[in-house]
Amino acid sequence: MTAEIRWGIVGPGRIAESVMGDFAHVPGARPVAVASRSLDRATAFARQHGIERAHGSYADILADPDVDVLYVATPHPQHAAIALAAIDAGTALLVEKAFTATTAGAAEVVGRARERGVFVMEAMWTRFQPAVVRLRELIAEGAIGEVRSVQADLGVAREYDPRDRLFALELGGGALLDLGVYVVSFAQMLLGTPDTVRVAGSLFPTGVDAEAGLLLGYDDGRTATLTASLRHPTPGQARVFGTTGWIDVLPRFHHPDTIVLHRAGGEPETITRRPTGTGYAHELIEVTECLRAGRTESAVMPLADTLAVQDVLGRAADALGVRHAEDPAVLRV
Ligand SMILES: NC(=O)c1ccc[n+]([C@@H]2O[C@H](COP(=O)([O-])OP(=O)(O)OC[C@H]3O[C@@H](n4cnc5c(N)ncnc54)[C@H](OP(=O)(O)O)[C@@H]3O)[C@@H](O)[C@H]2O)c1
Repeated sequence: MTAEIRWGIVGPGRIAESVMGDFAHVPGARPVAVASRSLDRATAFARQHGIERAHGSYADILADPDVDVLYVATPHPQHAAIALAAIDAGTALLVEKAFTATTAGAAEVVGRARERGVFVMEAMWTRFQPAVVRLRELIAEGAIGEVRSVQADLGVAREYDPRDRLFALELGGGALLDLGVYVVSFAQMLLGTPDTVRVAGSLFPTGVDAEAGLLLGYDDGRTATLTASLRHPTPGQARVFGTTGWIDVLPRFHHPDTIVLHRAGGEPETITRRPTGTGYAHELIEVTECLRAGRTESAVMPLADTLAVQDVLGRAADALGVRHAEDPAVLRV
């Protein structure tokens, strides 16, 4: 691995556009290539962001020998095929959330990464936000005793448009994979893998879920109550309840500035930790540092957690009757 970590961007869409500015806050990282299904789009993105090489197909960037790590920013069903091909080429990966469209897809990617010893991380930026890092420290210090329960909600009212990726089944649409992944990953971070998953919700006419309420159960009595919705707005707040107090993660909890610690019998303590840049810099720094250190996984966002989260999302989708599938054809365009 070179001293400078050279990044390639796959799928120059909305999120790739938002993330680019944060590379300025990542020491030792440089975006050097971008790939789109259209050379014109890749060239325009490269010009706009000062990237040297524009590739007119995803296969081309996979064959680019001067890329150390790919940031996969396509819709979810297009993640697995790209990730598998990158792993086979020995290229490290940061894969947008949701990691894949299906549990089987996630298991295949994780299995291949472990087999080949290639670094892969899900781009769950929440875990790297300074306020969330402080939350984990407080819990580890025993500030609220033993964590027994987590609540989290993330909802937006989006106008139904069957052509939009959020509502299209073949593009992995629905509240669960786009927003539910945040609430489930937050619970996973604090409580671990649940023993039971219960869900209620509704579907849009395209067959993707519009809203979902999840109850995660643990055999020792711990619980998580989670809400995700594309039908109605919610504050986007999380609360972590312990045996001697609780912590509020103020909206929006998936990239918060502020947490409020309530120790039993004490005054609330407000703790503010602002993110760097737009908040994406922290996950980019994690990947860059892991690669420099020769690691194959992030300790903060381990692949076991990614798999467990995808499994919960898959069970919830199954229970609601949502039939997601991976898109193996994405590399043929
Ligand atoms: N971390 C966050 O804050 C955050 C926020 C939003 C989204 N995301 C995640 O990022 C991923 C992309 O979301 P987005 O909102 O950026 O999506 P988007 O703008 O709709 O699509 C991203 C790009 O994917 C490429 N693509 C490849 N196959 C495609 C297909 N079959 N249909 C449509 N586009 C295809 C397209 O680029 P080319 O055709 O030019 O190659 C497109 O511009 C999703 O997994 C999403 O959950 C993360």
